[in-house]
Parts: sequence; structure tokens; C-alpha cells
Amino acid sequence: MYMEEFAPGIMWVGVNDRITDLFEGMWPLPQGVSYNAYLVRGEKTALVDAVKTPFVDELLANVAQLVEPQGLDYLIANHLEPDHAGGLAAVHRLAPDAELLVTPRGRSILKELHGIDERVREVGDGELLDLGGKSLTFHHIPFVHWPETMATYEGTERVLFSADAFGGFGALDGVLGDDQVDVAAYEDEILRYFSNIVGMHSRPVLKAIEKLSGLDVEQVAPAHGLVWRRDPQRIIELYARWARMEGEPAVTLLYGSMYGNTRTAVEAAAKGVTSEGVPVTIVDASRTHVSYMIQELWKRRGVLIACPTYDTGVFPPVDHALSLLERKRLRNRVAGVLGSYGWQGGAVAKLEQRLGNLKWELVGTLGFPGRPTAQDLEAAHRLGAEVARKVATA
Ligand code: FEO
Repeated sequence: MYMEEFAPGIMWVGVNDRITDLFEGMWPLPQGVSYNAYLVRGEKTALVDAVKTPFVDELLANVAQLVEPQGLDYLIANHLEPDHAGGLAAVHRLAPDAELLVTPRGRSILKELHGIDERVREVGDGELLDLGGKSLTFHHIPFVHWPETMATYEGTERVLFSADAFGGFGALDGVLGDDQVDVAAYEDEILRYFSNIVGMHSRPVLKAIEKLSGLDVEQVAPAHGLVWRRDPQRIIELYARWARMEGEPAVTLLYGSMYGNTRTAVEAAAKGVTSEGVPVTIVDASRTHVSYMIQELWKRRGVLIACPTYDTGVFPPVDHALSLLERKRLRNRVAGVLGSYGWQGGAVAKLEQRLGNLKWELVGTLGFPGRPTAQDLEAAHRLGAEVARKVATA
């Protein structure tokens, strides 16, 4: 049971989930995740967002420290994915006088997914709700992350409740704000959240950032992770950079290898990258969860894909990562591909197709039979160097 007032009349009443293994049934949570819910208290009281179903009692206990759930006047559902809205039906039942506010698009989702159809009001884009001493406005930000999503802005304290936008993985370990931590240590988990969950909707993210830029924001309070009160611009800029898919001037080398032949060429290609003064990070696709592969490739502008031919095609762990990156629509990458084959090729040609689907710039390819020869290793080195040069000058 915990709550924290971080602006006058505005409390965090969320939950740290340290139990769930996989977010959305797919994405590992080794450091947990927080479901941030907030109370805004004027003459009337509003609860902004809720938590995942198994944690609703904890949410209610947090709320009850300030107001009994029966005393809630408004439930604001910025986003209806069940990590936030799973507990909404229970709160709604316990707050018989509360009106539940959603976007018009959210109304049918609220009914179909959460079985809530009464005491619901649709709020328009820009609509104002006066709580008496606190004022809320609603700003529709469709597809960040679902079509019904909105952000809620509290005008007296200038707090933006931004739903999934500006959120990250990682539970809050005895802290709430960016002023209490070394933000750099959180960045990878925030990027993993962004790239895994929101990244496919990068255009809507940029539209939302543009739209919300008109608000005078002192604190960004997302649905997951840190509240940004020291430097809210930092998380907005990080999200904008990731959504533009700029990538750092560095190379991610994603590889798979069965018997070490491709791996030998990987070492040469990596040396080629660093020979140009560009850093390279090598990721073993067979031993890395795809969640992290997506994050690593989202991070850097350069990509080298290395794998053997398997069943006439791309080595499956690498293929899986690239198929998910296609779904996530990662763009703006400079790439090279290489790999070994046994008696006939296949992987390199199919990788070319995949990279074509991704619209990545293909710098060069290298396929070789069996063990790489000295010439093959020189070619791998050259390919690494060429990708690095493109990355450095892009
Ligand atoms: Fe945090 Fe899209 O739910």
C-alpha cells in the first residue's frame, strides 16, 4: 500500500508489478514494470487510469488512503489495454457515482473488452473538465498505442498524464521521478518498451508529440516508469528520436551460427567496422530474446546480418527477428549481409528480400561455401568497414 503526492493534489497510486514474466505474453520483464495510476484531487476527485486485473486490490488500497473508492467522481481511461484497464471494471463497480471518461473510439472497446457500458461519457479532443481547483483537458493521441488513446493534461500543476507515450519497462525501485535516478541506466529498458510496444506506431508518436507541444508541461506522468519532473523534455526528445528512427552512429551485428563458420566471418566483419572508428555491438540471435534484438537494432543506424543457410533459407532465429522488425516497421538502416552455406546458398538472397521489405539501404552481400577462406575474411572485413563508413557519414 503506497501513494505519493508529487504535485499539490496529484498523487501516484499505481502498482509495481514484479511478478509478471512476460508483458503482453511476449516481452520479458526481468526488472518488472509499473502500472502508473494517478489521483487528481480538486473539489471533485478523478482517478487517471488503473492497473492490470490481479493488482486492483493494491490500487484500491492506495486510493483509499486518500478517498474511499465510493467517493471517486471520475474515472479517466486514457488507454484501454488491459495492463491499465483490466482493473477498471472493479473500480467502476465500487464507485457508483463515478462517470467513466473515454474517447468516442474507446466506447465500443470499453464495452467489448471490459464489459463496461453504463456511466460512460465520451470526451472530445480538447474538452475541459473542471474539478474545482484542478482542471483537466483531454487530448486524443490515436495509436499511441491503440486507436482510442488520449492524454490528459492537468492545467494548474501542468502535469501531462501521457498514457503509454513516454513510458518504459522497469519497476520503480523506491523512486518515482527522473530526479531520483541516473536516467542513463534506465534508457535501454525505456527503448526496449518503446521499440517492442509503441515502435510500430512511430508516426502517430511524432504526431502526438507535435500536438502536445502546445501544452505548457512541467511534469510528464506516463502510464509506465518514471515521472519526468526534472527534465520532461528529455523523455520527449528520446521518444522523438526513436520514432524518427535515426539510430546512433554505430553498428549492430546480429548473427547466428551453427558450427562456427559464419561466426568466424562475424569477427572479421566486426573488425572492419571498428577499423573505421565506429563502435559495433554483436548480438547472438540464438541466445538473445527477440525483445532485446528489436531494441538493439532500433538503437543503432548500422546493421550487419550474418547467418548460415538453413533449410534453403535464413537461419530461423535471425529470420524471426527480421520478421518482427518488419511488423514494427523499423526504417532508415544501412545494412550488409553475409553468411556461410553448405552445398547451395539461399540465406543471403532471402536476406536481401527481407531487407528490401524493410526498405533498408543494402551496402553489400557476402555468401561463401563452408569455412571462410582468407579472401572471404578480407571481404567480410571490407563489408564491415563499408557499412561503418556509410553510418559515420549518414
Ligand atoms: Fe501500457 Fe498499450 O498499454
